[in-house]
Amino acid sequence: MLNLLFNPFKIKNLEVRNRVVMPAFGLLYTSDRKVSQKLLDFYEARAKGGCGLIIVGGCGIDFIGGGPMMLGLDDDTFIPGYEKLAEAVHRHGAKLFLQLFHSGRYQFSFLIGQKSVAPSVVRSRYTKEEPRELSKEEIVEIEKKFANAALRAKQAGADGVELISNAGYLINQFLSPVTNLRTDEYGGSFEKRATFALNVIARVREKVGSDYPVTMRIGGNDFVPGSNTNEQMSEYAKLFCEKGIDAVNVTGGWHETKVPQLPMEVPPGAYTYLALGIKRKVNVPVYSSNRIFDPAQAQKILLEGWADAVCIGRGQIADPEWANKAKEGRVDEIRPCVGCMQGCMDRLFSMKPVECLANACTGWEGERKLVAASSKKKVLVVGGGPAGCEAAMAAKARGHEVELWEAADRIGGQLYLAAAPPGREDFLRLANFYEKEVRRVGVKVRLKRKTTLAKIQKAGFDEIILATGAKPIKIDLPGVKLNHVHQAWEVLQGNVKLGDKVVVIGGGSVGIETAIYAASQGTISGDVLKFLFLSQAETVEKMHAICTKGSHSVTLIEMLDKLGPDMGVATRWVLLQELTVLGVRQLVKAKVLKIKHNEVIFEMDGKEMTEPADTVVLALGATPERKLASELERAGVKFKEVGDVVKPRKILDAVHEGFLAGSQV
Ligand SMILES: Cc1cc2nc3c(=O)[nH]c(=O)nc-3n(C[C@H](O)[C@H](O)[C@H](O)COP(=O)(O)O)c2cc1C
Repeated sequence: MLNLLFNPFKIKNLEVRNRVVMPAFGLLYTSDRKVSQKLLDFYEARAKGGCGLIIVGGCGIDFIGGGPMMLGLDDDTFIPGYEKLAEAVHRHGAKLFLQLFHSGRYQFSFLIGQKSVAPSVVRSRYTKEEPRELSKEEIVEIEKKFANAALRAKQAGADGVELISNAGYLINQFLSPVTNLRTDEYGGSFEKRATFALNVIARVREKVGSDYPVTMRIGGNDFVPGSNTNEQMSEYAKLFCEKGIDAVNVTGGWHETKVPQLPMEVPPGAYTYLALGIKRKVNVPVYSSNRIFDPAQAQKILLEGWADAVCIGRGQIADPEWANKAKEGRVDEIRPCVGCMQGCMDRLFSMKPVECLANACTGWEGERKLVAASSKKKVLVVGGGPAGCEAAMAAKARGHEVELWEAADRIGGQLYLAAAPPGREDFLRLANFYEKEVRRVGVKVRLKRKTTLAKIQKAGFDEIILATGAKPIKIDLPGVKLNHVHQAWEVLQGNVKLGDKVVVIGGGSVGIETAIYAASQGTISGDVLKFLFLSQAETVEKMHAICTKGSHSVTLIEMLDKLGPDMGVATRWVLLQELTVLGVRQLVKAKVLKIKHNEVIFEMDGKEMTEPADTVVLALGATPERKLASELERAGVKFKEVGDVVKPRKILDAVHEGFLAGSQV
């Protein structure tokens, strides 16, 4: 098979062994802005795993721009850490670039003890703060700091640098008419807004010389009203390449955009067209970024000429061996990034180091190692959801004989529920991974097996791990037993035909997802939309209507003052936006009192109100499924519990807990 992904390519005179790029990630693996052992272990694993080019960063070119939690590159004392990193990455044949970073008005004042700085005083929707305007002298200083940081990268043995000019950070702020309102030589026209970027490129070049690779990360479209689109960014990219940029890494929009950039709702490779727009204008390698995770998809991007290399970011966070597995055709063995954001962006926003839902060892490369057990045991895992699968695979990797008993006819558990709403299908990729991988590593899988105490005792096991999950909470509400009342899990499994008027009770994550699932029924697919659009069969307004208005009217009722309090910030706004787009009526601070045959009665603002309903869906949370656990306890059989059977939580918790239990038997 033609495998373009593993053809070497050149950035200036630097040969990179393949076209798999690890883009920069603020991982929060440093406490003193220096390269830590944790960071080194993380990147060494990706270099060893076959990645061609690793871009590390952002590395703050000063404290105000980088803040206390990111890596620093504003002093020579940082160099030794990067030297070690370069040595570790090079040892495995990968190349290392450092990303030179200044956040400008995206810095939080509480992190740096002062206002952030920017071309102009324009409040940021991201930080919800107003920056201070930079003086001309300060801008010149920052240009020099970029250059000094680039020189340090070179001195440390990094193979090149990347200037961050995307996502709405400082260079991007200068380029945009929305954030650059200056009237001096740094603003006022399309050309003048490029002055800062051009000065940075020139100062960097002066320091590192003409042979050293200097590249740029560019947003292919800011996706912010009034800001630069793909057309303008392509012109800027052309200009920057003429002035010495050696490769362009094209990503999507700003942190402030209302267009989702990273979650699983973004279709795979959705922003590759932005890379192509820029590639048409430049004569240097272009990498495409965002939601590229599948080797076949990556190959297609290269084959069809959308870009010259691909950023596999979270794909390599999920699996450090992504590149080697892809190269060796072991695609089913790749732990899949599902775009859930639970381990990466959600943790970053909570100021916690990055982990991964799909891999319990991410960020723990140095610690979580599966070592061979001193004696081989017979291990039973009950329950084939993420916690059970992880426990079984980890125990097997230690050399035990492992059986996995699952009551359903497939592996995956609640992943199938999580994958039911449109846009959330990526969770199926994790279910499919477990389905194959658990068997491949040699776990004996028994499906449709109702586990009982007698069966366990008859088979005889040295260790028992229960991962029996959770079940929906039942509440005592008048009318709850009526025929038109269903549990959200039943609905998400496709077992309920919904009526015209659907009321979902409970506005946590499951309630929101169920409301989206219900409201999407009867809306057209992407393929149908493309067909209608290309045939000019309908007006834009009509196409919007048939994309958003489905077969049912849906109301979501929540007792608390906020929907989705259990959701991560990186996903919550996307799903709330979707509820609104789909026309779901959202009621908060509304307490349901009674369900009747064709309506739900609730109290809101001290008044009793009704909402028509021919289907009522309960999404009131889950409770541990401990039936088997109680039986074993009564019989005095010892066991461990992992995942939702301990306490219903996120899939990430189940994965990590399962892995740890399996690695300790
Ligand atoms: C937790 C997190 C931190 C990130 N930090 C940076 C960063 O410092 N610089 C940068 O250019 N991009 C950053 N990104 C964006 C990624 O480099 C990448 O473009 C994004 O994850 C999309 O690619 P993917 O779908 O392959 O993961 C970050 C993304 C995440 C999820």
